[in-house]
Amino acid sequence: MKVRYSFKEYFEYQYVIFQKENEMKYRCRLLAFSFVMISFQIIQAQYKENDWKSRDTWMDVSKIFDLAEIEEGNNVADVGCHEGYLSIHLSKKVGKQGKVYAVDVRKDRLDILQEHLKNRALSNVDVILGDYDNPKLPLQTLDVVVVMDTYHEMERYMIILEHIKKSLKPGGKIVIIEKFKKHMLNKSREEQVGAHTLSLGFVKSELEEAGFLISTEIKDFGNWKNESDKRIWVLVGVKSNKE
Ligand SMILES: C[S@@+](CC[C@H](N)C(=O)[O-])C[C@H]1O[C@@H](n2cnc3c(N)ncnc32)[C@H](O)[C@@H]1O
Repeated sequence: MKVRYSFKEYFEYQYVIFQKENEMKYRCRLLAFSFVMISFQIIQAQYKENDWKSRDTWMDVSKIFDLAEIEEGNNVADVGCHEGYLSIHLSKKVGKQGKVYAVDVRKDRLDILQEHLKNRALSNVDVILGDYDNPKLPLQTLDVVVVMDTYHEMERYMIILEHIKKSLKPGGKIVIIEKFKKHMLNKSREEQVGAHTLSLGFVKSELEEAGFLISTEIKDFGNWKNESDKRIWVLVGVKSNKE
C-alpha cells in the first residue's frame, strides 16, 4: 500500500523526529552531567563533616596517634587540615593542656573548621591560614606535625619540610600519611602526583634529605575508604635531639 504525504505532513513528521532526537540528546547530556556531579559530591564528601562518622569506621585515628606517640598536653599541628576531621580528633586527644595548630591554604575550609570548633566548644585549636610553601607554624614548639593526604599536593615540599623541622622541638616528629593507588606503582613522581597519589619511597628519601630520621615505616595501613586499589601508608620522621 502506498502512503502519500502532503508537504505539510512531511515537514510536520520531520519536525517530530527532530524534536525526539534533540530530547534524547538533552536527556543523555543531563544524565552525564548528573553522573559527574554525583561523583564530585562523593569525592568531596570524604573530607566533610557528614562523612566523618563513616570515616571513623575505616580509619583508626587512635592507631595513628599511638604510632606518633601523641599524648595529652602535647602541642601538635595538622597541616592540610581541610574542615578539621583530624584536628578535632587531635583536639580531644591533647586536651585542655595541649594545643592544636590547624593549617590550610584555603580560607573557606578554615571558616568551616571555625564553625565546627565553636559548635563543639573546643578552645585548644589555633587556626592558621598558611602559604603554599610555608605553614606558618611557631618555632621550636611542636611535639608532632601530621600531614595527612596532603603531602602529594605540596609542590615546594622541601621548603615546607624545612619549615616543619624548624617548628618541631628537638626530638619532635613529623607523621606523613598518604593513600597510594596501586596501579600507579613504578610511575614517576610527577605522574603519581598528577593522579593525586604518592608512593612511600619518594617521601622517605625526601624526609631523609631534609634531615629526619625515619623511626616508623608502615607500607600497608589498610584500605582508604574501603577501596581496595587505595592503600594507606604511614611514615614517621624524627628531628634530631641536637637541632
Ligand atoms: C585532600 S585534602 C586532605 C584533608 C585532611 N588532611 C584530611 O585528611 O581530611 C588536602 C588539603 O590540603 C590543603 N593543602 C594543599 N596544599 C597545601 C599546602 N601547601 N599547605 C597547607 N595545606 C595545603 C588543601 O587546601 C586541602 O584542604
